[in-house]
Amino acid sequence: MILLDGKVVSAAVKEIIKTETAIILAKHQRPPHLVAILVGNNGASETYVASKVKNCEEVGFQSTLIRFDSDISEKTLLDKIKELNQDATVDGILVQLPLPKTIAESKVIEAIDPTKDVDGFHPINAGKLVQGLPAFIPATPYGIMLMLEYYKIETKGKHAVVIGRSNIVGRPMSILLSSNLPYGNCTVTLCNSHTTNLKEMCLQGDIIVAALGKPGFVKEDMVKEGAVIIDVGITRVEDATAKKGFRIKGDVSFDEVSRKVSAITPVPGGVGLMTIAGLLKNTLLAYQNKM
Ligand code: GUN
Repeated sequence: MILLDGKVVSAAVKEIIKTETAIILAKHQRPPHLVAILVGNNGASETYVASKVKNCEEVGFQSTLIRFDSDISEKTLLDKIKELNQDATVDGILVQLPLPKTIAESKVIEAIDPTKDVDGFHPINAGKLVQGLPAFIPATPYGIMLMLEYYKIETKGKHAVVIGRSNIVGRPMSILLSSNLPYGNCTVTLCNSHTTNLKEMCLQGDIIVAALGKPGFVKEDMVKEGAVIIDVGITRVEDATAKKGFRIKGDVSFDEVSRKVSAITPVPGGVGLMTIAGLLKNTLLAYQNKM
């Protein structure tokens, strides 16, 4: 069994980005600049955004964190995005989701200039991805593709089962795996919460991408011998014995499933770290597209 190690792969990706940034700086050009916007103080979002900012600094990017209280108006947020769209020193704009219910996520996503949309959530980027045109790929699916590439996981002709159809992970993942890009060319089944025969679907999967947000959902009797398992789950589960009072759990029952499969991502230490790698790649790309 191969452990698909997010620490190893993200470090390798970051090393390349760091070198490219050093070359930019040696030419006395400004570094790539990511602006992250955080609304409110959701614990998990705080952690993700802090990690995004820290990772930018580690590779030599400029990063700016803009915080708003959870009761800001939609207009205030949209006005800030307009300002950042026009700011030539900003390459990437990221609004951490979820947003408070008083703000329409779709309006916010659509307000971001698609050339600065390093999350790849804007309908223009999503549409380009569907048509196989150059686009920003959402960070988590991008990170997963980088991981498949690093470990040279054979995907051509395989049956990939994706559980969860979110715009952030499941749907773009299904498009990438079914595309004719390297590490695509799969036959893909995209499952959702209404799929009636999910266990049978999963048992047919040579590759399973679990992105439904239910800790430990994928059990040993749902996976085929030798399958490749990508666990996208990162749910905080209360645990009084843990220092922070919770543990991060994936969507896959790792201990039992790992005995049966050929490769699997751990949680933590798997896909979560690759999301950051995908975001950094997109930010560098946004910068390079402009220069
Ligand atoms: N919330 C959960 N995942 C993501 C992500 O990749 N980007 C943003 N902006 N918000 C998220």
